[in-house]
Amino acid sequence: MKVFYITGTSSGLGFALAEELLKDEENHVVGMSRTCEIAHPNYVHRKVDLSDAVATAKVRFGDHFKADKVYLINNAGSLGEIGYHGQLDGTEMADAYQLNLVAPAVLINNFLNAYSEKDAEKIILNISSGASVAPYPGWGMYCATKAGLNMLTEVVKEEAEINGIKEFSIQAIAPGIVESPMQEKIRSTPKDKFDMVDRFIEMKETGMLQTPEETAKMLVEHMKTSDFESPFVDLRSLIESK
Ligand SMILES: NC(=O)c1ccc[n+]([C@@H]2O[C@H](COP(=O)([O-])OP(=O)(O)OC[C@H]3O[C@@H](n4cnc5c(N)ncnc54)[C@H](OP(=O)(O)O)[C@@H]3O)[C@@H](O)[C@H]2O)c1
Repeated sequence: MKVFYITGTSSGLGFALAEELLKDEENHVVGMSRTCEIAHPNYVHRKVDLSDAVATAKVRFGDHFKADKVYLINNAGSLGEIGYHGQLDGTEMADAYQLNLVAPAVLINNFLNAYSEKDAEKIILNISSGASVAPYPGWGMYCATKAGLNMLTEVVKEEAEINGIKEFSIQAIAPGIVESPMQEKIRSTPKDKFDMVDRFIEMKETGMLQTPEETAKMLVEHMKTSDFESPFVDLRSLIESK
């Protein structure tokens, strides 16, 4: 049995990934988001607001100790308010940092606390972005939190080696540009808040976006074949190189 804890399973990539995994009856998915869109015998939903620090800290793992493989996929994420520093709302900023970076860190901590001594193979995937390695003016919270997620991945990887955690892998993955509510939000941003908006409208018009379904298939294939050696990978270049 394989168990996948996935955040953000109500739309976009997280939804498609859960649906793809649930096609295999060996897989069990525990989804976490504020709303639930999946009904399946192997799916359990935990309703949680990951921009709430206290609610996030209460998320516990460990109800699947008989699994051969346990995955934590930190997928839930938001662009936060798009706009330039000096013009942003501080509360919205704090919520975006909490959701994109603090929540994954706390969930990794709680996941390792539950599973690090167990025999099951343990795999953590942090859904990062190309914006973690390139600045996009107007996406300050997004770029900073995704860059932080990459570094968190590297630190936890080294800590696991020091602590001798067996059968453990962790990797940050940039999934490519995926059509989802997040991309709709980007395209509808006024140019005075996001100077690069035309580029994203053009990418949609010229058919350059991946669907969530094809991205989920690529991710599942990657999970089956990867040795997770590299702490950061871009899913597009991985697939192109095969
Ligand atoms: N789309 C892209 O082009 C793209 C590119 C690179 C990286 N990514 C990354 O891929 C991941 C998925 O993106 P997506 O495009 O699929 O996004 P999406 O369609 O907007 O979905 C976001 C998911 O996160 C959940 N979520 C948002 N706020 C939450 C909260 N406060 N508490 C709990 N869950 C919350 C949402 O569920 P609820 O609203 O029900 O809570 C939803 O299920 C993100 O980490 C994103 O940064 C996306």
